[in-house]
Amino acid sequence: MPNIRSLNKMDFVKTVPNREAKIEEASNKDAPSVDTYIANRLAKALHPSVQYLKIKKIIPFDANTKTYILVPDGEKTKELAYFKAGSYLSVEVDVKGLQITRPYSLSSSPKESTEGVYSLSIKRASGGLSSNYILDNWKVGDIVKTSAPLGTFTYSPIRDQKEVIGVAGGSGITPFYSLAKAIADGDEDCSLTLIYGTKILKEALFEKEFKEIMERTPKFRLVNVLSDEKLPGMETGFINAGIIKKYIPEGEYSLFICGPQAMYKYLDGETPKLGLRRKDIRKELFGEVHSPDKCPDYPKEKKAGEFDLTVHIDGVTKIIKCNTEESLLVAMESSGIMVPAHCRSGLCGWCHSRLIKGEVYIPSEVDGRRMTDKIYGYIHPCVSFPLSDIELEVPSFKH
Ligand code: FES
Repeated sequence: MPNIRSLNKMDFVKTVPNREAKIEEASNKDAPSVDTYIANRLAKALHPSVQYLKIKKIIPFDANTKTYILVPDGEKTKELAYFKAGSYLSVEVDVKGLQITRPYSLSSSPKESTEGVYSLSIKRASGGLSSNYILDNWKVGDIVKTSAPLGTFTYSPIRDQKEVIGVAGGSGITPFYSLAKAIADGDEDCSLTLIYGTKILKEALFEKEFKEIMERTPKFRLVNVLSDEKLPGMETGFINAGIIKKYIPEGEYSLFICGPQAMYKYLDGETPKLGLRRKDIRKELFGEVHSPDKCPDYPKEKKAGEFDLTVHIDGVTKIIKCNTEESLLVAMESSGIMVPAHCRSGLCGWCHSRLIKGEVYIPSEVDGRRMTDKIYGYIHPCVSFPLSDIELEVPSFKH
């Protein structure tokens, strides 16, 4: 019986490919293909490892925001995977020879995916390598590679309350647009009051579309909160506990929050005033941490600097440079080492790696590891920043 401490969790990553190889080796060539069985076909349709999508149309909102209408490429992807409103696609982008992935929430509804359409609404971000590249380069007819729909920022009737208050800022509006449509389509059985913060009304995305949804269903309503403009019938200022309290329903409700990191941090100080249970507060991905040394729990005594990063991947060892300012995932990607990664927020677990040697800083707000990971030295490189030379075993992109 092996000692639990001697087990390497990275070996489990190889379980599925090893099993598939064994099945292939042992296959009776005359036996029916696994695709003969409806359950296998359904599983593949719902959870494809990759989707190839053609850009059918681009709808500009303003100079910095566009909606991309995506359809199956018709060759490698014949139909789109269904999803729950609030899911995201991990999109692969090749920026100057660097292959990177970034998560983008689907702004289309689940029903639209059954009609062969996804949409992604992407906003320019300062320093946003991938978003800016997409906005400047994607054109109609291009084929893009994405994951299946992923994520946990979805409504669940067994966990969430029937009444949902949504709080959105910036491009954090996209999953709520999908949810509002799903409610109007009868695909989600909840009510949504959406509190949407922008500087001015002109910046608010989907304003006309939200009005149409309100005409289709009484289960959705929109509250605009404008920080730099006063308009009748709209709130002024920043979304805080006082504004949220004005719109909370009688009885229990769930609070869903999606927006920029500054909004999460601000609302962390406001939500305790609402007296909600932890399970009734749901937050979308925090996103990549930039400037880790500005995080409140960063070890201030550590000096900024550059270190060696030894990476074991696919049976090969590579030594590259990393520095205190960028995550280990970014360091590996910048050196051309492709590591599986989807959420880039310490949540999905795809980049889960074994820290063999060295010290890392992981901001507490994105440390989504289990206790065993902490005890036995496993980390998510997407949210881990080096404080010394590092040695790491990372999962293969093939798993
Ligand atoms: S990419 Fe999701 S946990 Fe690292």
